[in-house]
Amino acid sequence: MRGKPREAGVSAADELIHDHIAETAAIPADGRVIDLGCGRGPTLAAFARRYLGARLTGLDRSAVSVEAARNLLAGRAGGVEIEVVDLGKPTPLPDRCADAVVSYNLLECLPEPAALLAEAWRLLKPGGRAVIAHVDFDSIVIAGADRELDRRICHAFTDDQQPWMDHADGRIGRKLPGLVNSSPLTLERAHPWGTSSTELTGPAARRVENIRHVLTGAVRNGRTSVEVDEIEAWYAKIEEAAECGHFFFAETALVVSALC
Ligand SMILES: C[S@@+](CC[C@H](N)C(=O)[O-])C[C@H]1O[C@@H](n2cnc3c(N)ncnc32)[C@H](O)[C@@H]1O
Repeated sequence: MRGKPREAGVSAADELIHDHIAETAAIPADGRVIDLGCGRGPTLAAFARRYLGARLTGLDRSAVSVEAARNLLAGRAGGVEIEVVDLGKPTPLPDRCADAVVSYNLLECLPEPAALLAEAWRLLKPGGRAVIAHVDFDSIVIAGADRELDRRICHAFTDDQQPWMDHADGRIGRKLPGLVNSSPLTLERAHPWGTSSTELTGPAARRVENIRHVLTGAVRNGRTSVEVDEIEAWYAKIEEAAECGHFFFAETALVVSALC
């Protein structure tokens, strides 16, 4: 692999969407990209691999994630700025400063996603490109668990507002084209990005564990009507299915590119 080492816990399969976002952005070799909700920096790392001279700017509200992103990109030649910023408000960056603005899995937790798209438009140079991508959590397909229980668990996960979120819209992936069409940006392309596995490993295992962990926390905090016993019964069935070759996992992210 060229460029920076992988972030701990991020496998090659998880990196594919970040590389796809970087490829779709198609910035000049020395262009500037701003990642809104950069988290621990996997998308910025994909830009660093692809565009060796690019200027990378990442914004995120979590100081812990910003620190991790800075560490991930440490030592990279070329500009890297990663700052703690609340994206529920306008950013402190000037108009028309970026060749691309990207965002992955942020919008679901903003009460006003339209404001973020307007901000992306403000930050872009004329002709610049926004690439907004988001998993649609209602697209999760799992073979292995009991039908009714699986529906109950997956819907509870999709609808849960976790403590770090100001809002929750687990179905925002499918709304991205409409949101872009209501923004000052011009929709270029909307397409699905699928992740799938017949094994309970990699991204599939991480999502199943993520659902189990989030919903167990939701039970503890009284945010869901699902019971811990149900979550564990669901999980046990999935493990059982994986052992006898009956497991399947798929989820879809929507990837939208739009021009300023
Ligand atoms: C699911 S993570 C995705 C992170 C990253 N894009 C990735 O692909 O790994 C969502 C990120 O949005 C950030 N976030 C949530 N609300 C935010 C807000 N109001 N302002 C800035 N960042 C926010 C969280 O801190 C978190 O890092």
